[in-house]
Amino acid sequence: MKRGIIYLPDALTRANITPSAPRGSRTDGRIIESRIAGAHLRYLILSDIHANGEALTQCLEAATGHYDEVLCLGDLVGYGPDPNSVTERVRELSRIIIRGNHDRACVGLLDPGEFNPLARWATEWTRRELTLENFEFLRSLPMGPLSVDGFQMVHGSPLDEDEYILGPVEALTNLRAMTAPWVLFGHTHHQGGFALSPKGHFQAIRCARLMDGEPKIVKLLDGYAYLVNPGSVGQPRDGDWRAAYAVLDLDEKQVEYFRVPYDLAKTQAKMRAAGLPEPLIERLAFGR
Ligand SMILES: [Fe+2]
Repeated sequence: MKRGIIYLPDALTRANITPSAPRGSRTDGRIIESRIAGAHLRYLILSDIHANGEALTQCLEAATGHYDEVLCLGDLVGYGPDPNSVTERVRELSRIIIRGNHDRACVGLLDPGEFNPLARWATEWTRRELTLENFEFLRSLPMGPLSVDGFQMVHGSPLDEDEYILGPVEALTNLRAMTAPWVLFGHTHHQGGFALSPKGHFQAIRCARLMDGEPKIVKLLDGYAYLVNPGSVGQPRDGDWRAAYAVLDLDEKQVEYFRVPYDLAKTQAKMRAAGLPEPLIERLAFGR
């Protein structure tokens, strides 16, 4: 693995490369040299923020000083009350963002008729709320897989950006088809992941009952394939209402999973003020 070089696909435009690109960057849409040689490289992995500004704030505060670059695995918007401020903050924070299905639906790239009625309602509300600039930014996001420093980012799965990797059947199919040893994925809103050993042993990575702000550390062993899900920042569905994120440490070859509480009542109050559907407001408290 060659440290500090980020390979960008042809589809990635300058739209999500901020002017604050680090020293050494080449913003020609192909390669960014994001770090001087020898620097420690830790990626903060955010996924499924879903326009929950309070949850995003808490993740960033908790992770302060613990990362060098920010990656976003899609679904910046949809469901939550802060589509514009979240889009603007993520755009400032990260040069490496891929699209999620809710991003696509909110900007007319996916028929929201495929969603359930509540998600469709929230999608249409979000579309009306987005500024033209944020709408165009979300519309410009590239699809996964995106190769970064020897690993890959996807929203759903390496095979299909809309696939849910929830259990062994989908996980094994993808682990066996992976062209990079580590794939970061989201979409399910379940923190954890899956691993396949060189001898073909399958293992689920579980993140139950993490202490606030205390990491679960998973070492990434040579020869293994890993699917890593940081969990959802803004709408967890794994039974834990707290915001989820992860840090990938390239030098230590490990992933650290975190959960942090956020101002849930404030998010819910903003959703009520916006007139978003009550079931979407209530589900946040249950992490479902
Ligand atoms: Fe999502």
